[in-house]
Amino acid sequence: MDLASHRFMSYFEPEQAAHLCQIAIVVSFAEETLVFEEGEAADFLYLVLDGEVEFSKRIENNKYQTVAVAKPDDFFGELGVLDGEPRSARAVARGSSTLAKICREELIEALQFAKGSSVLQMFNFIIKNLRSTTDQYVNQFVHKQKMVLVGEMVSTIIHDFKSPFTGIKLSSEMLKEMHPDEETQEWCELIQLQVQRMLGMAEEVLEFSRGNSALTKKPVNLIQTLQQFEKLNRVYFEAAKVELIIRVTEVIVEADENKILRVLQNLVGNAVEAFGGRGGRVEIAVTQSEEWAEINIYDNGPGIPQAIKEKLFEPFVTYGKRTGTGLGTAIAKSIVDAHKGKITYESEDKKGTTFYIRLPKITNEPIE
Ligand SMILES: Nc1ncnc2c1ncn2[C@@H]1O[C@H](COP(=O)(O)OP(=O)(O)OP(=O)(O)O)[C@@H](O)[C@H]1O
Ligand SMILES: [Mg+2]
Repeated sequence: MDLASHRFMSYFEPEQAAHLCQIAIVVSFAEETLVFEEGEAADFLYLVLDGEVEFSKRIENNKYQTVAVAKPDDFFGELGVLDGEPRSARAVARGSSTLAKICREELIEALQFAKGSSVLQMFNFIIKNLRSTTDQYVNQFVHKQKMVLVGEMVSTIIHDFKSPFTGIKLSSEMLKEMHPDEETQEWCELIQLQVQRMLGMAEEVLEFSRGNSALTKKPVNLIQTLQQFEKLNRVYFEAAKVELIIRVTEVIVEADENKILRVLQNLVGNAVEAFGGRGGRVEIAVTQSEEWAEINIYDNGPGIPQAIKEKLFEPFVTYGKRTGTGLGTAIAKSIVDAHKGKITYESEDKKGTTFYIRLPKITNEPIE
C-alpha cells in the first residue's frame, strides 16, 4: 500500500502527515528476516505497507512463541518508542514485506504538535492491539492446559487399552492357527493391523499433546502407502457407503510412512464423517512437480462449515460433531509441517472439499 494512505498518517494534519511521509524510511524485508530482536533498543516505529510481520517471545530452550501478527495498514513498535523501554518481543517478516520506519525523535516531535483527537485515535489503536495480544496470551495458556489434559487422558487410555489389545491380538493369532485357510488368515492379519494402528493413533495424540513429533524417515513409495491405506479402510468405507478413487503415479518421498497414513486417515475420516451416513465419493490423487510430491484429497461432501474456515488447523476447533475433539486436522498439519511440507484446502458449501498436501521429494536438510 501507499505510505500516504496508511492509517497512521490519517492521525495527523495534512502538512504534518506529508512531513512524516518524507522523513519515513521505506525498507523491504525478505521472507523470514529479522526486523528487530527482543531486548533491543526501540529506535523506530514501523508502519506495515505490504506483507506481514510476526511477533514472538522467547520461551524455554530458545523456542519462540508467536504472540501477534501485523498486517498492511497496521503499525508496531510504538510502545518502546514511547516509553523508551527495550523491545518486548522479536519481529520477523513473514513473507517478503515492505515497512516504513519513523525514528523516535521525529515521532515524539510529531506527537507534540498533533491534535488531541488524533492522539486519542492512535491510542485507541494501541489499546486494541494490547487487548488482542493479551487475549492471545490467555488463549495460548488455556490451550496449553488443555493439551496437558489431553496428554494425561491419552496416557491413561493407552495404559488401560494395552491388556485388552494384547487379548485381541492373541485371540486372532489363535484363530489363525485354528483356521489355516487364506481368507481367515487375511482377516486375522487385518484385525492385528488395526489393533496396532489404534495403539499407534493413541501414541500420536500423546506425542502431539507433548509437542514433539519425531519422524522416522525412510524412502516411501506413495503407491504402496495408498494401497496400504485402502486395505486398512476397505471395510470402513464399505460400511459408510463411500466410494474411494485413488489415482497415483510413482513418487518417492523421504517420509515417516505411519505419519503420512495418519494424515490421510484424519482427512479422509473427516470426509466420511461429513457424509453423515449418506455415503459419498473421496478421490485421492498423487502427482508430482519438480520439487514436490502432491497429494490431493477431494470429497463431494457438504464443505467445511463457514464458522471454522479461518481456524480449521488450530487444535480443538471442531464443528457439528458430538464426539469431535478438533485435533484431526491440527495433527495432520503438524505432521506435514514436520516433513517441511505444506497443507492447504479449498472448500465450497454443499459441493465439497479438497485438501492439498505437498511434501518435498528430496530432503534438503543441512548435514550436521
Ligand atoms: N472434509 C470435510 N468436510 C466437511 N467438514 C469438514 C471436513 N474436514 C473437516 N471438517 C470440519 O472441520 C472440523 C475440524 O476437523 P478436525 O478433524 O480437526 O476435528 P474433528 O473431526 O472435529 O475431531 P477429531 O478429528 O479430533 O475427532 C470438523 O469438526 C468438521 O466440522
Ligand atoms: Mg477429525
